[in-house]
Amino acid sequence: MKFGLSVATLLVAIAGSANAVAEWGQCGGLNYSGSTTCDAGLTCVYSNDWYSQCLRVTTTSSSSRTSSSSSSSTRVSSSSSSTRVSSSSSSTRVSSSSSSSSSTRVSSTSTSSSSSSTPSTTGAVTSEAQTWKNAVIGAGGFVPGIVFNPTKKGLAYLRTDIGGVYRLNTADDSWIPLTDYAGHVDWHDWGADALATDPVDPNNLYVAVGLYTNSWDPDNGNIIKSTDQGATWSKIYTFPFKIGGNMPGRGMGERLVIDPNNNKVLFFGARSGNGLWKSTDAGVTWSKISAFPDAGTYIPNPSDSTGYNSDKVGLTWITFDPSSKTASGTSRIFVGVASLGVANVYQTTNGGTSWTALPIFNSAFIPHRGVLSPSEGSLYVSFANGAGPYDGSAGRVGKYNIAAGTWKDVTPAQAITDGTYGFGGLTVDLQKPGTVMVAALNQWWPDANIYRSLDGGSTWSPIWEWNGYPTINRYFGVDVSLSPYLSGPLGNQDVSQKLVGWMIEALAIDPFDSNHWLYGTGATVNGGRNLLNWDTVHNVTIKSYAAGIEETAVLGLISPPSGTAHLLSVVGDIGGFMHTSLSTPGKVFATPTYGTTTSIDYAGNKPSQIVRVGNVDADTNPQIALSNDYGATWFANYAAPAPSATPGYAGGNIAYSANGDTLLWSTPSKGVLRSPNQGAFSPVAALPAGAVIASDKVDGTALYAASGSNFYWSADTGATWTTVAVSGLGTANWIAVNPYKAADLWVSSTTGVFRSTNGGKTFTKLPLVTAAWRIALGAPKTAGGTPALFIAGTVNGLSTVYRSDDQSNWIRISDAQNGFGNMASVILAGDTRIYKRVYIGTNGRGIFYNSNAV
Ligand SMILES: *[C@@H]1O[C@H](CO)[C@@H](O)[C@H](O)[C@H]1NC(C)=O
Ligand SMILES: *[C@@H]1O[C@H](CO)[C@@H](O)[C@H](O)[C@H]1NC(C)=O
Repeated sequence: MKFGLSVATLLVAIAGSANAVAEWGQCGGLNYSGSTTCDAGLTCVYSNDWYSQCLRVTTTSSSSRTSSSSSSSTRVSSSSSSTRVSSSSSSTRVSSSSSSSSSTRVSSTSTSSSSSSTPSTTGAVTSEAQTWKNAVIGAGGFVPGIVFNPTKKGLAYLRTDIGGVYRLNTADDSWIPLTDYAGHVDWHDWGADALATDPVDPNNLYVAVGLYTNSWDPDNGNIIKSTDQGATWSKIYTFPFKIGGNMPGRGMGERLVIDPNNNKVLFFGARSGNGLWKSTDAGVTWSKISAFPDAGTYIPNPSDSTGYNSDKVGLTWITFDPSSKTASGTSRIFVGVASLGVANVYQTTNGGTSWTALPIFNSAFIPHRGVLSPSEGSLYVSFANGAGPYDGSAGRVGKYNIAAGTWKDVTPAQAITDGTYGFGGLTVDLQKPGTVMVAALNQWWPDANIYRSLDGGSTWSPIWEWNGYPTINRYFGVDVSLSPYLSGPLGNQDVSQKLVGWMIEALAIDPFDSNHWLYGTGATVNGGRNLLNWDTVHNVTIKSYAAGIEETAVLGLISPPSGTAHLLSVVGDIGGFMHTSLSTPGKVFATPTYGTTTSIDYAGNKPSQIVRVGNVDADTNPQIALSNDYGATWFANYAAPAPSATPGYAGGNIAYSANGDTLLWSTPSKGVLRSPNQGAFSPVAALPAGAVIASDKVDGTALYAASGSNFYWSADTGATWTTVAVSGLGTANWIAVNPYKAADLWVSSTTGVFRSTNGGKTFTKLPLVTAAWRIALGAPKTAGGTPALFIAGTVNGLSTVYRSDDQSNWIRISDAQNGFGNMASVILAGDTRIYKRVYIGTNGRGIFYNSNAV
């Protein structure tokens, strides 16, 4: 999570609440401002970053999630739609399998239905190798850290907040994803709060992993280590506390460092008041340095009941002075601390045994980055008055003279005049003494500035400046061909005006090449290879180096049976895409443009007709858009009220009837709505709020829904509904419908996968599957046969992605290198034209597809 301003606001908006939320109601998510407390007996369960729901959670664990931290073993691992519980206080209820229940809507002990409720014992599980690639969008998320190895030319890494880490491929400036192994058990490894590349043995790479320090991530943080530059990994240590790669302040750093004079020594600066930790055996064991005086007191928003903004940001960066070499390692080390009103940069001169505060530079600001300039004997520090990456409205740049023990304020004069932003990204050119660059952390308007000094910070030149408002002199050209969505307006965020970027915390000059620089933004990695032109003609090229990076949180996928695009996607923050090619960036949906887009569907008999739903709840445009040309062009559906006038008409899931005449919309807060013939949306009283919905793809009158253990079918485009209690269903998670045949459908649930061949009147449970989240159908093995069924589910205790060609045997299609993260967050679409081809959307690593299926 990552993209823009929007998320900032939301995260601070969540407040404690008076009204408890009923079963299936929304209880959390980005930009959600309602109650986060569920009715008694219910648990607020994370579905995705934009949606958490109150569910009745039981612990009939069929999951493969072995808990690595004992206390969290009651978490919601097996049931329901998620493994993350968004309200810690409710976690004690997770184990209650029943009862004081305030909700009467759907009892989990069902009455009728002809389902065979005992799983069949037939069927087998095998695996089949696939070649996984990304469908290209081009980054699409925040890059909080970029680290060059100081001793091996061309070796560099970046870390993302929800999609793991990457290594630079200098041959073509692309990036190689390194942590795609993460699956349902270890999805938190995609939260990279800090990384360290070894200056002594450059093959070593360490990452401090974990996504959230609040309840959204159940596990304590880990150190993962690679001895082959990220090709393979081992989890070498688990801290007795959590690590938050997607928490506030994740752009500060690095919090994890390797002593350049003794690479067995590592330091880690923890969050949550856990202080400074040291390892002397290359990360295998760690101990807390109790002498470190301040664990950091700064909390972004103490009243955030989710725990997200109410945790201590902790220690922010650790920097060695390698010249202070002793037999056991470096003796002088600096540490930045997220505390305000007090000293917040510390120094040791004995390798960490004792610590003293540096003189206070300006206690109104948090030190974001501390960068040593060896040739100047100085430490540069960027400061901002917030933790970032969204906040921070003031700041300074300090330069500490190590020998003299004194600070100098070297803030660019223009920034003090502007007075609206702090500083994040900071770097020095190790080959050119006195050359230093610093980035505005969040100069939202009109664009972020980056400043460069050749004289140790005495004077600076900007990358752009006003030439009499509204004219701007831009001392750069841009090339966004690898993140092309950046060249168009994106929702309310108007990124086309922000050519430099925003949320710039990662900024680095290649230590071996003064022309080569990189920086992370809220959406991509930018940089260039002609940086020295800044000092001659004062004009550089900024290029988006997104090749290889896919960082979106995918929220919906479809593969229509005709049209030039086999794949259409909707994602968090940057809208959605039509992928006529999978290897070049998809065409971004526009007119109307939404940021976060939550659902997409096509009309089965008229597949050129597509519908999508955006979720900006303060927009004057309706949040439903229609296309009649397979997603190439769009128009707003004015039958949907503008949410600015009528809040709540945004987000959720959408289904398009097969004949393209009726929309069924399951909203987060307005229940299920129906719009016939592009007429007004009206409530569907028969369907519970939060129901999952689907359309038949052949029968133009048939629509489906499921909620709890009930299935609902309509034979009149949703005007009237029949309820079927499905024995043994547990809680329904998703409905998938045969793209080629009427009345043939599958329901996934907390207990498995159920098929109906008569439009939902009766169901049969498929063998071996004990839980499933998303399911999807694709082209059949033999023409005219039953479609291939893809599931993100649990088979024989292993939760991952499977295909079945025959409804009884399961073929694992993930592998040790491709885990696809948390199964509860996986989005699936089977290609309706290519047997075996499946599109797998992830929460942080974009869209994968198996390129071997052709
Ligand atoms: C810098 O170069 C770019 C691209 O060549 C050009 O568009 C821009 O106008 C130049 N900036 C200035 C201030 O001349
Ligand atoms: C979140 O809310 C803010 C302010 O309320 C709004 O500007 C922004 O567009 C919203 N973002 C999303 C993704 O809904």
